[in-house]
Amino acid sequence: MSRNYYVAANWKMHKTRSEAVSLAKELVSALKDGKHKYLIVPGFTLLESVSAVLKGTNIRLGAQNCAFEEQGAHTGEVSVLQLKDLGVQTVILGHSERRHIYHEDNALINKKLRLALSHGFEVILCVGELLEERESGKAETVCETQITEGLKGVSADELKNVVVAYEPVWAIGTGKTATPEDADAIHAYIRKVIEKLFGGAAAQKMIIQYGGSVKPDNAATLMAKENIDGALVGGASLKAESFVPIAKF
Ligand code: PGA
Repeated sequence: MSRNYYVAANWKMHKTRSEAVSLAKELVSALKDGKHKYLIVPGFTLLESVSAVLKGTNIRLGAQNCAFEEQGAHTGEVSVLQLKDLGVQTVILGHSERRHIYHEDNALINKKLRLALSHGFEVILCVGELLEERESGKAETVCETQITEGLKGVSADELKNVVVAYEPVWAIGTGKTATPEDADAIHAYIRKVIEKLFGGAAAQKMIIQYGGSVKPDNAATLMAKENIDGALVGGASLKAESFVPIAKF
């Protein structure tokens, strides 16, 4: 199996410009000989400054969201054209905080995803179940619906620019991680869903990151699982001392 590991730092709504630039510089120097694929995803106001630091390095620049329309009367939204202009290469969509705090549904996420792909962005589509959904045995069907509806209308060619992140909502920022076995089982299920939609070859190539309280001490065991191809890291990505060991697991 030849999938590459992909480790992403989701800074969420943290850091000022000077803090962001200094962390980005630390990561550039610590990861310049790193073996995996890397991504930093700062807040919108930090993108331009961090972009300048990452230019020409082995770390990609990502955004945490985008608008579903290219431009127009959308007060408070940020367009893919504006993101492209700053050197953004990847957009995270469907993060559980967008789904559950800001009520983004699968149809909206699908519109954003198709727009971002049509502009040549890589998209990380986040999926994952709530605690009550897991406890009532619905984790797989929730993920299946989020994948199927999120990827509606995506061509086989566009799918090459899609990464999936499985983030059980109950594990995000809580210190609780899915066991590597539980996570791998859902990852395997997600791969089957991709196979059903796009065929076996596409499913084998799909990078599926795990997210939810990934830390230096659990990263390697998670990554050792057959279907876990990287990590989307929140809290532990805010400091080089915790992110670098994850990124270099
Ligand atoms: P966490 O966040 O690592 O702080 O749990 C992960 C995420 O939401 O992407």
